[in-house]
Amino acid sequence: MCDAAASRDDGGKAAIMPADAEGEKDSRYEAAQKLISFGELTPKNVEQLRKLNLAVFPVKYSDKFYTDLSSNPVQLYTHLAYFTDIMVGAICCRVESQDGAAFKVYIMTIGVLAPYRRLGIGKQLLQKVLEACSLQPDCVEIYLHVQVGNDSAVDFYKGFGFEVGSIVKDYYTRLDVNDAHIISKRPPFLSTS
Ligand code: ACO
Repeated sequence: MCDAAASRDDGGKAAIMPADAEGEKDSRYEAAQKLISFGELTPKNVEQLRKLNLAVFPVKYSDKFYTDLSSNPVQLYTHLAYFTDIMVGAICCRVESQDGAAFKVYIMTIGVLAPYRRLGIGKQLLQKVLEACSLQPDCVEIYLHVQVGNDSAVDFYKGFGFEVGSIVKDYYTRLDVNDAHIISKRPPFLSTS
């Protein structure tokens, strides 16, 4: 992952499923959509986000990470996902200024609690950020770091047309694998190729 974590995806599915299992997956997916909703980060729900991230990522984010996020008046690039009324996922980004008015969006974290994965929650969270970026002509890139070996996250981003770039050695300091891929996407943000 990005700024921090890396975690393994234990919510995966077999690449090839028998027809019955595929149908079962489809109906589970469809039924889940009615129970999924999205919200914004506020000082009131920031503690829930902290607990979510502690459950999803092997890295503990600082108090400043949460204070900066929840006190930001612009929440275009941070979104929460709920299953019924439980917070089960979140995407957290920061804006990095470049020359002139240009800026990049850096995805610090995207995570979904394991029992709620493969229901399209991560996809919808990322889609919200891509849509927000597509409306900003000055946004020149979205990028992030993913721990080498986190193949499910790499596959997830590739599905949105992100490119897997160079490896940063020792990007992390206290994980089992400390190297990270840089993964990025330039405009148009809503295309998948
Ligand atoms: N293996 C292969 N492809 C996958 C996997 C997987 N385990 N998970 C998702 N994908 C791909 C599939 O193409 C999937 O579509 P499909 O289910 O129709 O085949 C597509 O991504 C969308 O999947 P979603 O259901 O929307 O993804 P999900 O809600 O499960 O969230 C996420 C994906 C966020 C990567 C989740 O697995 C997770 O929280 N992992 C642990 C934390 C993590 O590794 N985060 C990313 C690190 S990078 C960073 O934080 C910046």
